Amino acid sequence: MPHRLRHLLGIEALTAEQITFLLDQANPLQEFQRHPLKKLATLRGKTVALAFFEPSTRTRISFATAAARLGADTMNLQAEASSLKKGESLLDTVRTLDAMKPDSIVMRHSASGSADFVAQRLEIPVINAGDGTHEHPTQALLDALTIRDHKGKLDGWNITILGDILHSRVARSNIHLLTKFGCRITLCGPGMWVPRELECLAPNIRRVPRIEEAVEGADVMIVLRVQQERINEPALAMEEYILGYQLTPERLRRARPNAIVLHPGPMIRGLEIDPGVADGPQSCVLEQVTSGLAVRMALLFVLLGGAPIDDKGFPHAAH
Ligand code: CP
Repeated sequence: MPHRLRHLLGIEALTAEQITFLLDQANPLQEFQRHPLKKLATLRGKTVALAFFEPSTRTRISFATAAARLGADTMNLQAEASSLKKGESLLDTVRTLDAMKPDSIVMRHSASGSADFVAQRLEIPVINAGDGTHEHPTQALLDALTIRDHKGKLDGWNITILGDILHSRVARSNIHLLTKFGCRITLCGPGMWVPRELECLAPNIRRVPRIEEAVEGADVMIVLRVQQERINEPALAMEEYILGYQLTPERLRRARPNAIVLHPGPMIRGLEIDPGVADGPQSCVLEQVTSGLAVRMALLFVLLGGAPIDDKGFPHAAH
């Protein structure tokens, strides 16, 4: 029997059963996003604190919208306009938010392990919205939901992750998630961004230096942004990166005919991805955003106890 979730700090510690449970909860909420009246009262009276210490468009707005659509209120830390600027520490900042009695905190921070650090010190559920280069669990869940929607199942696909893998929390969370379902992972990018140690993260991971070989036979391509803000090593010249690693329509033709392309965003068009791929028929980039709303609604619903608990220790579905 799966354990009940208290926080969501990463994918690594979750079981395939827990992941399937969350995706199953999110599934009916996909359709809900297309409903003309997008408001439930499931979490009415609850408050979700959003503490983003790093920039975000998709994740922050998605959590705020997910909370609103479930009827919850949000408190929103604006890092740039907060007392962090006066030298207040992370812990004092989140303790201050906690003293206003939210029911959960969603946090993004540049330090790997920061969500775990906070979870050990607060009583409320903590949701990791991205911690340094460590994990971005809701991104992996929404990617998994997108793959499952398109392909009917999650198990056994050939997944290629392309680009700046070393600095990518999205890559780590996706590797942990997809290998729990027997997917085979191919990593491809400049050598300094695809170190050998990544092969030890999980079984069924291989590193391939040439993009043509990495794309061959892929069912899913996950293209990553070059994370300039985390790069300490001498950067590859942009022209060199484009020549070696940009996903172009011509290169994508080597993948399976019904392959799909994911990108967590923000995309740098013309660098890691050709606009012809980003806007092409195989691109799921905007569907990923919609899946994100469903996943985050499901997660808030599960963690904040928006329904009676069933005999397996889980709340009933949100529909
Ligand atoms: N995918 C993702 O985390 O995007 P944001 O940085 O815009 O939240």
